[in-house]
Formats: sequence, structure tokens, C-alpha cells
Amino acid sequence: MGQGPDEVKKQYDMLAKEYGDAFAGEHEKKPMDREVLRRFSREIGKGRPVWDLGCGPGQTAKYLKDLGVEISGMDLSEKMLDEAVTRCPGIPFRKGNLLDLEFENDSVAGVVSFYAIIHFKKEQVETAFREVFRVLRPGGLFLLAFHAGERTIHVETFLGKKTDLHVTFFTTDFVARCLEKTGFAGIEVIERAPYPGVEYPSRRAYVFAAKPLP
Ligand SMILES: C[S@@+](CC[C@H](N)C(=O)[O-])C[C@H]1O[C@@H](n2cnc3c(N)ncnc32)[C@H](O)[C@@H]1O
Repeated sequence: MGQGPDEVKKQYDMLAKEYGDAFAGEHEKKPMDREVLRRFSREIGKGRPVWDLGCGPGQTAKYLKDLGVEISGMDLSEKMLDEAVTRCPGIPFRKGNLLDLEFENDSVAGVVSFYAIIHFKKEQVETAFREVFRVLRPGGLFLLAFHAGERTIHVETFLGKKTDLHVTFFTTDFVARCLEKTGFAGIEVIERAPYPGVEYPSRRAYVFAAKPLP
């Protein structure tokens, strides 16, 4: 299952305000999010260009900026980007599609992408990984977060609104194999149980991967 970018964009345009209100401070309640983002920022260092792809209202970009990362954000939904601009002063945001990135080859030091692949089919996940690999500099770092498992749920209401969103959970094996097939190395998977009362009760996965040096 998976939805086309136009349909996903329409859904997030409609949800943007509520999503921003609900998720703006989420990392404060999620210790593992903070741990992986701090590690990412240490490994990237300062003054090197990093993109948050599928940034939503910008909470992850903001967390990384506060750690000193030179971060920019990109999303499909203009309304999500409006939220991000308002909530995250000083961070550049632009519209774009993770399946067809408008960046030069080998131009980006790091990519972070939290829960942006959840509306993709498996083939689209492969396309997104190929795009991230293409734009990363050799030695560049990719940090991905997603719902771990093997099912697709149809979300008919979310944040008090009627929605039509298909959310796909991927196994960590599938994601790791896909990254490896794309050419990534140093693949490291971290999986955790959901934080009760804080988030949707799904297992969460974070994956670090690097584009190898020649
Ligand atoms: C579940 S939200 C995650 C937002 C944010 N990263 C977070 O962790 O809360 C999914 C986001 O990915 C964006 N998105 C979905 N498909 C995309 C695509 N093909 N290209 C860029 N952004 C996309 C949506 O517009 C939405 O803002």
C-alpha cells in the first residue's frame, strides 16, 4: 500500500496546524529521539549542510539547529512548511519531493528523515534511498526514523480531523537490506518499544547509514 504524493500533500495541508501543535515539542518527551539526534549532530559537526527531508512542522530541524547543526528543511506540503517557518525562525525551508530531489549529486553532508517514508510503497522507499544516496557527499550520514513492523493501517481520523492516510510499517530487515542494496554502509539499526501515553503505540526504529568514501 502507498499513496501518491499529491494525495499525501493534500492530507498534510489539511492537518498542518493540528500536527504542528501536537508534535512541536515531541523530542522533549522521547529520550531515544534526543539520543540519536545528539549523536547525529556530533558526527556531522558544525558548518556542514544538512537537510531534514519530510520535515513537517520542523521540530527535528529545530532540535538539530539548537545543537549547532547547519540544517534546512524540505517537505511536500506548503501548509506544513508554513508551520515550520512560523515555529522555527532562522531555518531555511523549501518545498520538494523526497522521491525526486532537486539537489546536486554529492552536495549534502547529512540527511535526517523522521516518519516521511511511512506513506511509501516498498518501491518508493527504494527510490527515496537512491535519491538520498545520490545527493549525499561521500562520507555523508543518513538518519531515518519509522514505525517498525509489517502492516499498513488506514487512518480515518487523526488529531480530530477526518483523514484518508495509509501508514505503512516496515521491518528493520527490509530497510537495512534496501539501504545496503542502494550502496550505504555502516548500517546501524536501533529499535525501541513505544513510550506509553506519549505516542502511537507502535515500535519505533532509527537507522544510521553512511555513503562510503571512495
Ligand atoms: C508523518 S509526517 C512527519 C513529519 C515530521 N518529520 C515528523 O517527524 O513529525 C510525514 C511528512 O512527510 C511529508 N512527505 C510525505 N511524502 C513526502 C515526499 N514524497 N516528499 C517530501 N515530503 C513528504 C509529509 O508532507 C509530512 O509532512
